[in-house]
Amino acid sequence: MQITVLVDNSPGNSTQQLCNEHGLSLFIEYNGVKILCDMGATELFAGNARELGIDISAVDFAFLSHGHNDHSGGLLAIPNITDRPVYMHSNVAEYGFFSSRRGEKRDIGTDRNVLNCLGKQIIYLDGSYELVPGIFAIQCREGNHARPYGNRFLTKSNGATEQPDDFVHELSLSFITPDGLVIVSPCSHCGALNIIEAATKITGCNRIAAFIGGLHFIDSDVCIDEVSSFAREMNRLFPDTIVYTGHCTCDKAKRVLEKELKRVRFFNTCSVIEVTEHGK
Ligand SMILES: [Fe+2]
Ligand SMILES: [Fe+2]
Repeated sequence: MQITVLVDNSPGNSTQQLCNEHGLSLFIEYNGVKILCDMGATELFAGNARELGIDISAVDFAFLSHGHNDHSGGLLAIPNITDRPVYMHSNVAEYGFFSSRRGEKRDIGTDRNVLNCLGKQIIYLDGSYELVPGIFAIQCREGNHARPYGNRFLTKSNGATEQPDDFVHELSLSFITPDGLVIVSPCSHCGALNIIEAATKITGCNRIAAFIGGLHFIDSDVCIDEVSSFAREMNRLFPDTIVYTGHCTCDKAKRVLEKELKRVRFFNTCSVIEVTEHGK
């Protein structure tokens, strides 16, 4: 199983002409199945894929992890790339999403015109499903662990009422591999530990080989404590799991993770994650 980061917040160190942006897009290859997981904020992911020699028109399906436009903005490029299914939660279309983190309220939702244009190509999921053998879409509805502090600046609105975002619109991907479960969770708004627990319940697989994604640890007053307590819990509950993170894991959080989380690696634009190296 291999994951190529088509777009991330951080530039890669490749000699290729790759651009970065605030957003995430991953190209996943698993047992011959090709998946485009999130599309970043713009069409940049498609240009980077071309530069890397990846034919994204060969994907079996695309998957949107949640309704924020740093993951869904690139959806507008999809009709020119593929007519394969695009999976997402129905709340992505039913709600507007907003951030008030940097003072004034910003619309960070998914463009309805783009969703209308994709029409029947979109398959809405309202729960957890095995999409193809060994690959699960996971919805996390509960959990005893903390959700990221950064969620408190985020709201959703159905047009009539606005409320704190409960992240019903968030889905993760889980893959059964010989090394255990590989979880891909681009923003982890439901909390990485809660998502891991949901994935173990739904798949029945308790061994977690890798957790890959942003952890939504934003630069804040509580960042160091929040990240330390996550590292402590990961070390205690899942000591063998490798956490690969980037995107919405801020630099301050990365420094804490580097010191305190036993098995952590960082990705950026054009990183290639060979998940099968686990266990070597
Ligand atoms: Fe994000
Ligand atoms: Fe997000």
